[in-house]
Amino acid sequence: MTQFPQVRLRRLRRTPAIRRLVAETTLHPADFVLPVFVKEGIAEPQPISSMPGVVQHTRDSLRKAAAEAAAAGVGGLIVFGVPAGKDGRGSQADDPDGISQQAIADLRAETGDDLVVMADLCLCEYTDHGHCGVLDEEGYVVNDQTLERYASTAIAQARAGAHMVAPSGMMDGQVGALRIALDSAGYADVAICAYAVKYASAFYGPFREAAEGAPKFGDRGSHQQDPRNAAESLREAVLDVGEGADMVMVKPALAYLDIIRRVADTVSVPVAAYQVSGEFAMAEAAAANGWLDRERVIMETLTGIRRAGAGIILTYWATEAARMISATT
Ligand code: PBG
Repeated sequence: MTQFPQVRLRRLRRTPAIRRLVAETTLHPADFVLPVFVKEGIAEPQPISSMPGVVQHTRDSLRKAAAEAAAAGVGGLIVFGVPAGKDGRGSQADDPDGISQQAIADLRAETGDDLVVMADLCLCEYTDHGHCGVLDEEGYVVNDQTLERYASTAIAQARAGAHMVAPSGMMDGQVGALRIALDSAGYADVAICAYAVKYASAFYGPFREAAEGAPKFGDRGSHQQDPRNAAESLREAVLDVGEGADMVMVKPALAYLDIIRRVADTVSVPVAAYQVSGEFAMAEAAAANGWLDRERVIMETLTGIRRAGAGIILTYWATEAARMISATT
């Protein structure tokens, strides 16, 4: 038989140590951000049926979860407040005593500067109609009036101690409006992590139970992006950076890995990706049925998101994944 050199890719796959040596993608706990829900006026944490293991926290249980995340090496938290009372303009969003502001202050008291405290900035958890902004008579979210509400909310969140605000409402000009508002209120050091690229996605379903922010009528199609489009994501990201975004986010993650890659190749600020509630629920439900290996699926999806180009990953598995990584390295 003729001898000839054969390409053998399997040489570098032979042992776990060789595979580890040549691995291109690594996950670090410090790059994870844990989304947390805190609800006003509850005595015990409330489970969320569509998100097994995730709860609506009390102020106390939130502090505990933050301490655990910090101990596991998680990089940050993003806070979603669920107020006891809602109204048309989302008054609780920028109330200095609103639940988000209280929770942000609690978190800073608990973890200081050890964890990055991010505040999700939108009105949908605070409005009685469940929309992300102020509505006109036809139920359309009015852009510039909404920006005024966002600006005031950013200042309240900064005053409470947020290191970063994360506008998620997809209004045009929101990053610029927040940058000006924060700077003129003396919060030039508070960063903006823009949900620059946010699709109108069915994967937000479970979140709307968790945050109690489902729209009472209509949908978010008039401001969130159409899943069929990619080019406008680059416009969104570039515009947000121009308006002063310190970081940009792509959301959801798994169905939009191509978008993560293109955004990461386009901008030079850090890129975050949000592994959203539906992605979490999908894997948890399949694992609960014994159809998927839960831990492997968690790590494989996080690795895929990272490999696509996300430097930072928001995930409900942050604390658990951080522990898994520490246990294997
Ligand atoms: C609110 C907001 C949503 C999510 C994050 N911020 C829901 C929405 O836009 O309807 C979704 C997060 C998730 O599904 O995990 N503006």
